[in-house]
Amino acid sequence: VFAAIAQAPEDPILGVTVAYNKDSSPIKLNLGVGAYRTEEGKPLVLNVVRKAEQLLVNDLSRVKEYLPIIGLAEFNKLTAKLILGDDSPAIQESRVATAQCLSGTGSLRVGAEFLAKHYHQRTIYIPQPTWGNHLKVFTMAGLSVKTYRYYEPTTRGLHFQGLLEDLGAAPAGSIVLLHACAHNPTGVDPTVEQWEQIRQLIRSKGLLPFFDSAYQGFASGSLDADAQSVRMFVADGGECFIAQSYAKNMGLYGERVGALSIVCKAADVASRVESQLKLVIRPMYSNPPIHGASIAATILKNSDMYNEWKIELKAMADRIISMRKQLFDALRARGTPGDWSHIIKQIGMFTFTGLNSDQVAFMTKKYHIYMTSDGRISMAGLSSKTAPHLADAIHAAVTG
Ligand code: LMR
Repeated sequence: VFAAIAQAPEDPILGVTVAYNKDSSPIKLNLGVGAYRTEEGKPLVLNVVRKAEQLLVNDLSRVKEYLPIIGLAEFNKLTAKLILGDDSPAIQESRVATAQCLSGTGSLRVGAEFLAKHYHQRTIYIPQPTWGNHLKVFTMAGLSVKTYRYYEPTTRGLHFQGLLEDLGAAPAGSIVLLHACAHNPTGVDPTVEQWEQIRQLIRSKGLLPFFDSAYQGFASGSLDADAQSVRMFVADGGECFIAQSYAKNMGLYGERVGALSIVCKAADVASRVESQLKLVIRPMYSNPPIHGASIAATILKNSDMYNEWKIELKAMADRIISMRKQLFDALRARGTPGDWSHIIKQIGMFTFTGLNSDQVAFMTKKYHIYMTSDGRISMAGLSSKTAPHLADAIHAAVTG
């Protein structure tokens, strides 16, 4: 019955790794997927994660029973505290419904399914551009997706006026997807003053903010600073959806650890929202996996481990910042035409280079450098050894 089925294309981001794996060149470099690598180009398991896993393995009282539908209660409490802050009134007033979900994507999808079923407005505005999977997650959940202007290619900065105009023209009640920090793919974030203006606009128009927080701690190296945008929206007492991922900041990629929090206006509403979340989750995957969330909870609840995590997280963020500087310097040293200062100005895991898809194809073919066709490079995949190779490739692509 499937004889005529069409071959599907590879995923625009994860497919880059598939192509990279097929390349036998010794100089090949994968700057596609946003996954941290060490200076030696190796994946990194944080020491504090190894420690937490050891504790879990040694605790023979631990069993492999099913978790509740909304996941590990302890993790849910700690993860809400991490994003909203220790003294968040929303938590103190029990206005937050949190469900452990399958990393960022799973949290977004559960939130989207919930909205499709229970929210009167089915339109969601996502930034232009945004992470490639957003469109698919929300569309598949049955929401209608529109875009708002976000990035201005000529300045390589925020299209703030366009953003305000587009959100200002959105029908009342529309959902608005916001990147909490380290916007993917552009690395361009609003300033605190701009966030405040966005907040006022969203609240005055009765729009519903849905934050994607995939990089807490990665943008600035500070967990609190990177949660500031979310906290501004929660501080005003209004509703808010938050999807959190521990893929990058704890390096728990394949463990699929994340959470959806829905901040409500009253405790009884949050409790009913939680009951409905269970009905959304049960037919999708029943309940989430236990191991990764236990690692995260172990780290979050132990102050020594928490501090150790912060140090390791800062070291990752700092290495990325140093790679920005090295790539920028290498291009300057080559006299590569153009202003490359955005490499050091942009924030988070990615540099949105401004290279077009032909230039990217050229760099892959001639230099075995793999990146997404929109010109995004994962700075976390670069090292002091490979930065000159990348600079050579960019130089050739620009001047060729
Ligand atoms: C990325 O944008 O590279 C990451 O968020 C990984 C992914 O799942 O796409």
